[in-house]
Amino acid sequence: EVHPVILAGGSGTRLWPMSREHYPKQLIGLLGDESLLQSTTHRLEGLTSGFALAERVTVVCGEEHRFTTAEQLRMSGHASRILLEPLGRDTAPALTVAALDIAAHAGDALMVVMPADHAVADLEGFQAAVAAGVHYASEGMIATMGIVPDRPETGYGYIRLGQPVGEAGGIAARKLERFVEKPHVELAQQYVASGEYWWNSGIFIVRASTWLKAVQHFQPAIHEACVRAHASGKTDGDFFRIDTQAFAGSPSNSIDYSVMEPLSNDQSVCGSVVVPLNAGWSDVGSWDAIWKILPKDDNGNVARGRIMFEGAQSTLAHSEGRLIACVGTQDLVVVETADAILVAEKSHVQEVKKIVGRLKAES
Ligand code: GDD
Ligand code: MG
Repeated sequence: EVHPVILAGGSGTRLWPMSREHYPKQLIGLLGDESLLQSTTHRLEGLTSGFALAERVTVVCGEEHRFTTAEQLRMSGHASRILLEPLGRDTAPALTVAALDIAAHAGDALMVVMPADHAVADLEGFQAAVAAGVHYASEGMIATMGIVPDRPETGYGYIRLGQPVGEAGGIAARKLERFVEKPHVELAQQYVASGEYWWNSGIFIVRASTWLKAVQHFQPAIHEACVRAHASGKTDGDFFRIDTQAFAGSPSNSIDYSVMEPLSNDQSVCGSVVVPLNAGWSDVGSWDAIWKILPKDDNGNVARGRIMFEGAQSTLAHSEGRLIACVGTQDLVVVETADAILVAEKSHVQEVKKIVGRLKAES
């Protein structure tokens, strides 16, 4: 059985003013009526996927988002186990507690680890890649899903492809030879130009026991703190409250920096493969990503809500209430909400998070 694990923490500050501290990006309908969290839960359902899916979805999220998270999972028809973080420690501790929890209930199960901030257009393609990943993960490896890069994005991890490791379900996986998380732009350019690197999608398939061995090997402090935080945690209905004091004692680090990077130099504890994911994947991280994903008119404009375009080009306008009129605009993002309006050049949307930082500092 394959256990879906959804990492649903973090706040998505580049998607302000839609994404807010109390309503972060994974919980709002950025791409349609469903939230990103809900579309993540649906991603493994339905098709004849070649693997049996656990009935219960494991979600790790911040304690402050428990009610919205639980309600959304219920509405999308899922039994869930929601692990509540008393404070954010990044993705490595989050996954470690999830692995401990699954191991405690289901033995040494396989996990499909999915971030809650992705869009995937082709579900059949996605599930085929998961099935291939399941094949390698069941042999004790960490399988990651790789994306052929089309630009030197610095916000992603890069994986240098090693030897082919054969085919699973018609998908040719490669050994993971090197993993570099968020390289600077010159390196990213070299990697893309070389054709020898794929992006890390952030979707991992791994046995609970394999992950726990890898964290223990590379990050004993995270492993130890999480073992204590899980052992002293308490079940509360569908929720599981991770112990605050023990979890606070864990170093804060991501899966990518803390395990994937060192793993690429030392595969003594487990091997690692990268499975190509060719399924219209995108990370929904900023407003230009949303512009890319959503359907456009003949001039490349995206309209959400009450919008009028006059001579506009490649403009994204999103209104929660008031009419937005864009005249002669180009490569612009306009987002209207009840208490804030964002106007940004598309090439500068990464800097939206600076506004959020300033607002925080003021309050
Ligand atoms: N539960 C929990 N707790 N979830 C978290 C936490 C946390 O402390 N921090 C982040 N997350 C969730 C986010 O909600 C997101 O769904 C996922 O974990 C990944 O975190 P991001 O912060 O969005 O990571 P990233 O986008 O910078 O980088 C990762 O994804 C890239 C692709 O989108 C890395 O895996 C990169 O290597 C990868 O290329
Ligand atoms: Mg992300």
